Parts: sequence; structure tokens; C-alpha cells
Amino acid sequence: MSTILVTGGAGYIGSHAVLALKNAGYEVIVLDNLSNGHRELVEEVLQVKLIVGDMSDCSLLDDIFSTHNITAVMHFAAYIAVGESVIDPAKYYQNNVAGTLTLLEAMIAASVKKFIFSSTCALYGVPKFVPLTEDHPQDPISPYATSKWMVERILSDFDTAYNLKSIRFRYFNAAGADPDGLLGEDHEPETHLIPLVLLTAFGKRESILIFGTDYPTPDGTCIRDYIHVTDLAQAHILGLEYLLKGGESEVFNLGNGNGFSVREVIETAKEITGKEIKIEERYCRPGDPPILVGSSDKATKILGWHPEYPNLNEIIAHAWQWHQQRHK
Ligand code: UFG
Repeated sequence: MSTILVTGGAGYIGSHAVLALKNAGYEVIVLDNLSNGHRELVEEVLQVKLIVGDMSDCSLLDDIFSTHNITAVMHFAAYIAVGESVIDPAKYYQNNVAGTLTLLEAMIAASVKKFIFSSTCALYGVPKFVPLTEDHPQDPISPYATSKWMVERILSDFDTAYNLKSIRFRYFNAAGADPDGLLGEDHEPETHLIPLVLLTAFGKRESILIFGTDYPTPDGTCIRDYIHVTDLAQAHILGLEYLLKGGESEVFNLGNGNGFSVREVIETAKEITGKEIKIEERYCRPGDPPILVGSSDKATKILGWHPEYPNLNEIIAHAWQWHQQRHK
């Protein structure tokens, strides 16, 4: 049985990937510094081995790779808040770029040469055309997106030089929760639209702020392509199998190809929750492109990936189910 090291496996997308790996029969070890992750998710809910530590700790990494027979690494550990990255870019370059470089060097030293990377559609910057395809020019407009772009460049050089094979998944907006209610989205502080809207519906927040109402979109608010986290997790299994079969390094968009504005997300959440959701309009958040909608045809064609929950209503309904359970 293959053992997969999952960095950031105590976080939102990472924990859903661990669940998918377990369901697919893999042995999993999670490395997480718990800066944003949740110990109980890994130890109690998922019941896999958790190593609490940082990917910038070379000796810890050497120890992990020498004591476990690791076949591949799935790398989710990263800071993810676009707005924060504009205010504190050092934090993003230090962790997301320098930390990842340390991890990759430890992998090369241990001859572990299969890597699955959480990248982002944010690296395309302001789209020149939509839906975005993988060959769209890259021009990141936030330090967060630039940090992911830099790692993608490093991965391409590491393939040439060290034969490290990687899949770079460019996620659109991960959302929703495990349909069985085991896992969900729980960032602290929360910055993402759907959980904030649901927390407002729940009465945990007074209102939802709309960042920007004069974007060049039909209703003036930003448009995003929301993709169910369980579908993202499933793509990781397919990507892993592709690499284990000897596949070459590849990059794939992961989205649904449907765009929804901030106002449409709020309206859908009102319908699903049956609650009033108070809105306050604010200025644009720096680093936010007006529209990000992608084509995932390549992932469908090469990996055979088909999102099971492409519908925004279902995505929000699963997130709502999890919030209700969590806050009861
Ligand atoms: N938004 C609001 N109010 C809020 C929060 C968000 O109006 O309180 C808006 C944002 O301005 C943006 C949209 O809702 O237009 C979505 O924002 P999120 O914070 O939910 O997500 P982002 O698009 O900023 O970023 C997410 C991930 C990134 C990833 C990106 C890809 O956090 O890692 O999706 O689009 F790169």
C-alpha cells in the first residue's frame, strides 16, 4: 500500500483530500503546523497519523522521509488569504515559497519524486479571455498568487534538473463541505465568501460585506467559479494515480466553468437557508480580479475528472449542513 505525505492535511482542502485518499485505500501521514489546521480533524475524525511541525524544518522533514516509505507528497500547506498577502507579502513568500522549497529539497534528497501541488487560478491575474484555459498568460496581481506562480516555476525547473514529476492543480474557488457531514470549512479568521455568508445567515455575524460593486460585471460584483471541495479532492486521487502510473508533469485547472457573482451567491444562500442576510457594500478588496471562470476540459480529457457536485445550490447546501452541525 502506498503511503502519501499530506502537508496541510488538517486544513480545509487538505482534510477532504485525506478523506478521499483513505477511501481510495492509501496510507496517509499528515504534516501540519496547526497554524490554521485542526488537530481533532486528523486524529479523531480522519484517524490518520499527524506530525505536528513545519515544512521549513529540514531535520524534521529528513526524519519523516527516512522513517516512512513515502511514495508521493500532496502539498496543501500554504497561507491563502489574497487580501492579507497584499498587506503582509513577506509572510506569503516565506511560507508559501521558501517553505515549499525546503520541502522539495528534502524530497529530492530522499528520492521521493512525485508531487501534487495546490496552485491557483489567481495566477492568471485579470483574464484576457474566459473561460480561462491552462495556456492563458500568467500575470498574478497579489503576492498570494505570485507565491503560487513562483512554486510552479520551481517545479518546472525541478522536473528538468531532478526528474521530480508534479501535478499543479490550479483551483478555482473551493467551496462546500463533505456531503456526509464529516468535514467542512473552518478558517480562523474566516475570509471566504460562502462561509461568511452562512455565518451571517446563522446569526454569528451581523452582515456580509460586498467588496466592490462597480466591477465590469453584469451586477457590478466579482464573479467566481465555485468548485466543490469533494470534487477537488477526487481530482487529487486521479492526479496521484496518473503520476504513479509514470505520467509526465502536468498542469490542470479545476473548476466548474460556471461563474457566479457575489450577489448571486448571497441570493442562493438566502434561498437555501431560508434566512435574511444583511448586506453592506464596501470598496474593492485589493488583489481581486473582477472575474475568474475556468475551463477544466484538460482535466476531464487527461485525468477523466468529472465534478460530481457542479451545482452552486448543492455546494452551498453541503456547506450549510456542516455549519448547522458545527454551531448547534
Ligand atoms: N468577498 C466579499 N465579501 C467577503 C469575502 C469575499 O465580497 O466578505 C468577495 C471577494 O472580494 C471575491 C469573492 O467574494 O470577489 C470571493 O472571495 P473569497 O475570499 O471567497 O475567495 P478569493 O476569490 O479571494 O480566493 C479564493 C482562494 C484563493 C484562490 C482563489 C481563486 O482563497 O486561494 O479563490 O479564485 F486563489
